[in-house]
Amino acid sequence: MKVIKSIKEMQTYSESLRLLGKKIAFVPTMGYFHEGHLALMKEAKKIADCVVVSIYVNPTQFGPKEDLTKYPRDFDRDLKMAESVNADVIFFPPDIEMYPENYQTYVNVEKVTQNLCGISRPGHFRGVTTICLKLFNIVKPHFAIFGKKDFQQYTVIKQMVTDLNLDLQIIGQATVREADGLAMSSRNVYLKENERQSALTLVGGIKLAQKLYDAGERKAAAIAGEVEKLIKSFDYTNIDYIKICDTTNLDNVDEIKSQTVIALAVIVGSTRLIDNHVFGEELKA
Ligand code: PAF
Repeated sequence: MKVIKSIKEMQTYSESLRLLGKKIAFVPTMGYFHEGHLALMKEAKKIADCVVVSIYVNPTQFGPKEDLTKYPRDFDRDLKMAESVNADVIFFPPDIEMYPENYQTYVNVEKVTQNLCGISRPGHFRGVTTICLKLFNIVKPHFAIFGKKDFQQYTVIKQMVTDLNLDLQIIGQATVREADGLAMSSRNVYLKENERQSALTLVGGIKLAQKLYDAGERKAAAIAGEVEKLIKSFDYTNIDYIKICDTTNLDNVDEIKSQTVIALAVIVGSTRLIDNHVFGEELKA
């Protein structure tokens, strides 16, 4: 496996693959891999000749009070894990390459960034779209694979790719869960042992929502209300949002009619967790 740290070298390497007619699949990450990341890499491996994985903890997507400095990092462990699934290239740029002095350009997707995490994390998606566009220009992939646990991020990136006519395909991969159902996230390491049951209320909430939907309930407020009651009944939980939205524009809906997602953000102890479920889709938990 090749490790590339320079932007120029990454661009030259990708260009040489493209000239040979090879397909490149890209998995953007902030490192500290778990099975969810490996699932993205395995999917990438199936569809392309070369799998490029970036590891970059992007400062512009963290708010001033967020966990940028304490975000978990372990490059050597990440390398071994990526190697175990035969990733081909790790792109690991330093901050000075990604945001040199006098950096001043940002990308803003206007509507689908407004609801959900866009409310409690102002500026977050501006950082995500900016870094993803930069990475797409550096890695030059044919495909980029994103986990659907970050459903809004996946939606925002698809919107950017459409709006800016980017010549690549965005692929969404189902959420990978721990044995007890908790959606995998690098941030799960922050959870204290006594917070685990409370963290499981996110998946418990989406299961309850699906059960109510299966029983014929279509009123968003009724479903969200029951999920709220469940989550509030556990210690250490502080709900940021429980919302039921259209999957394309992420607007809140009153009544579930077409493709609709329930999205949750809950702070458990001091760890902010998110999860979601599209009604009617299989929930492997
Ligand atoms: O999902 C993530 O890990 C990050 O938001 C991403 C897409 C790598 C951009 O920094």
